[in-house]
Amino acid sequence: MSIQWFPGHMTRARRQIQEKLKLIDIAIELLDARIPLSSRNPMVDEILLDKPRLIVLNKADLADSKTTEQWIAAFKAAGHVSVAVDSSTGTKVNEIPVMAKQILHEKIARQIAKGMNPRAIRGLIVGIPNVGKSTLINRLAGRSIAETGDRPGVTKGQQWIKVGKDMELLDTPGILWPKFEDQLVGHRLAMTGAIKEQILNVEDIAFFAVKELAHRYWPTIAERFGLDKPPSDLEDADEIVRIMEDIGRKRGCLVSGGRVDLEKASGIILRELRAGKLGRITLETPDMMI
Ligand code: G4P
Repeated sequence: MSIQWFPGHMTRARRQIQEKLKLIDIAIELLDARIPLSSRNPMVDEILLDKPRLIVLNKADLADSKTTEQWIAAFKAAGHVSVAVDSSTGTKVNEIPVMAKQILHEKIARQIAKGMNPRAIRGLIVGIPNVGKSTLINRLAGRSIAETGDRPGVTKGQQWIKVGKDMELLDTPGILWPKFEDQLVGHRLAMTGAIKEQILNVEDIAFFAVKELAHRYWPTIAERFGLDKPPSDLEDADEIVRIMEDIGRKRGCLVSGGRVDLEKASGIILRELRAGKLGRITLETPDMMI
């Protein structure tokens, strides 16, 4: 990832979000629908405190829709309103201001009862890098405002962006850090492209991708890559490498002597996974929530 999240950065990011929270009515917490747990900041409840919140499961176009529904039900059971969207095309993005208004309806009703004319709802989008914050801001604004790419600590003048007539958004999102302590989380973030692989070994990430996909989505990858031999034991590293080699052979990733170029095969696996070419894939289900 381009950002090194040292403790100092985390403190600064947290302070910046807490400053922005004073200006807004609702936080829009953006998660990746494929990995709602790994893409969630571990301290988000502590950071957002009792600020009204709408959870947005982004990249729903790449996620398994049945599991996304389960996530929405699980968040509801935990007392949160959530919606699944695709910011890249705008699908369901229009529901965000509508739902934000619903969440704040009591506050709005109180203002009206006091004879006040309620102003537009003010929101802030928060989330880890690459979850789609800038894409969503641009989509809601209907024009290109937010630059994609993140730099915690770099702030420009803040402005309000109009979203329809009832909502305004801060143009700079709140950037949160992902969980790093758990290796599995790191691998899932890397598999989905949230962590860029320059700093990670492509074969390692593809190894974990194949392991998770063989576990949850064997028929899908078997069909996509023309594989006929399922793994006999997912805990056997040789078996996972064997599948990676099978994929490499099917895609012509061969080097002299007929050996498989595992690095090339790994690149293909990850590119196709991230682009949704393997179908809609979700790596985390609500039962994994502690
Ligand atoms: P950030 O501000 O949270 O860091 O994320 P950003 O908007 O930069 O989005 C990160 C990547 O995710 C971008 O792709 C963006 O196009 C993609 N993305 C965002 N929302 C969605 C979505 O709902 N569905 C899908 N399929 N993709 C989404 P990129 O490859 O990094 O850039 P680009 O090639 O699109 O320019």
